[in-house]
Amino acid sequence: MNIGIDLISFHAPSYVLDLRILAEMRGVDPDKFVIGIGQERMAIVPPDQDIVTLAANAALPIVDKAGRDDIELVILATESGIDQSKAAALFCHKLLGLPAACRCIEVKEACYGATAALRMAAAMVAARPHTKALVLAADIARYDLASPGEPTQGAGAIAMLVSTRPRVLALDPESGFHAEDIMDFWRPNYREEAIVDGKYSTRMYLTTLLRAWKNYHAASGRSLTDHAHLCFHLPFTKIAYKSFERLCKADGIPLPPRDELERLIDPALHYNRQTGNTYAACVYEALASLLDHAPANLARKRIGLFSYGSGCMAEFFSGVVQAGYRDHLFTDTHRTMLDSRTPVTYRQYEDIFNYGVPSDGADHVFAPYRGGAFRLAGIKDHKRRYEAK
Ligand code: COA
Repeated sequence: MNIGIDLISFHAPSYVLDLRILAEMRGVDPDKFVIGIGQERMAIVPPDQDIVTLAANAALPIVDKAGRDDIELVILATESGIDQSKAAALFCHKLLGLPAACRCIEVKEACYGATAALRMAAAMVAARPHTKALVLAADIARYDLASPGEPTQGAGAIAMLVSTRPRVLALDPESGFHAEDIMDFWRPNYREEAIVDGKYSTRMYLTTLLRAWKNYHAASGRSLTDHAHLCFHLPFTKIAYKSFERLCKADGIPLPPRDELERLIDPALHYNRQTGNTYAACVYEALASLLDHAPANLARKRIGLFSYGSGCMAEFFSGVVQAGYRDHLFTDTHRTMLDSRTPVTYRQYEDIFNYGVPSDGADHVFAPYRGGAFRLAGIKDHKRRYEAK
């Protein structure tokens, strides 16, 4: 029985900051951001959007297309949680009009959470093949202003419908994973901005990539050349090139010439370059980018995916693109959404960054900004009130 991604949809906030503007303000050569770390723009989240609205906005095209009745599970992966108890998936469940006979939960392991959610969803669908699961991943990456992490900030959400007879990507059963207790990136409950040792985190990412790859290779017998493309977790897109280089070395394969390397890697990087880090959504945003941009038809080709969550959890796995997949993508929706974003000035970026929602539970009403179909209207009696526009 095939199990995998039936539909995949991506959503980013409607505001964007060009990193060349940020570079000028920070007195940095813009090439450092654009070429050195591989980022062009960062998504800016207006005050009336959060992980619930981003995730619901990503999922709406899917439930409108595929219907709601068979969805028995909603898992939302995030490290930008809005409540210590209630699952954000329940807010999305209501906004999307899903059936009451449905399990809704939230999961967390930094940027790895969506991969755990996808694996759990696949297991549930295997046990009840007539049902479907909705996997959501939404995050807002925030670092201190003027810190090294600042140019890698971003935001966005991915929604994936998981089913038997997937129309986009059938997951292979083999995977390789690795867990280790380290402190490379974390966000204590009292902080809104993450703490990151970027150099150490990058080193651990690349080290655990090789460990997960080795375990995947042992489980599947596959080598690098068995995969048409690779999608990596992307805290910044330059890391995809570093990762591919490491895997070639580990597999004893010479690094392809630059133009071939770009043909293999670049299609998966377009969206992340335009949004910045989307944490849990990252590797699936890369997958959506690859499917939307690969010039060659990828039908029946195997894609390798590497998911890394700081802390840390790493998994290498793969899937086979399904025949006719192009008819089931939301490529035009993605393009229109990204092309119609409103650019912000540096001052507007800083104002939004510093916008203070009361943290003492006082009632609050949010002014309407541009966004998708759903927004956060206000907070009253400690309850978040969402609305459809
Ligand atoms: N033109 C082109 N490239 C340039 C450049 C210029 N003018 N100036 C610098 N660079 C290159 C550097 O050579 C370096 O490339 P390399 O890594 O291939 O050697 C790259 O730009 C970054 O420069 P560096 O000095 O290392 O940047 P930094 O100290 O500001 O840190 C990060 C970069 C990515 C580590 C930092 O942004 C960060 O910590 N981000 C957060 C990452 C994260 O969230 N990780 C956890 C989740 S996985």
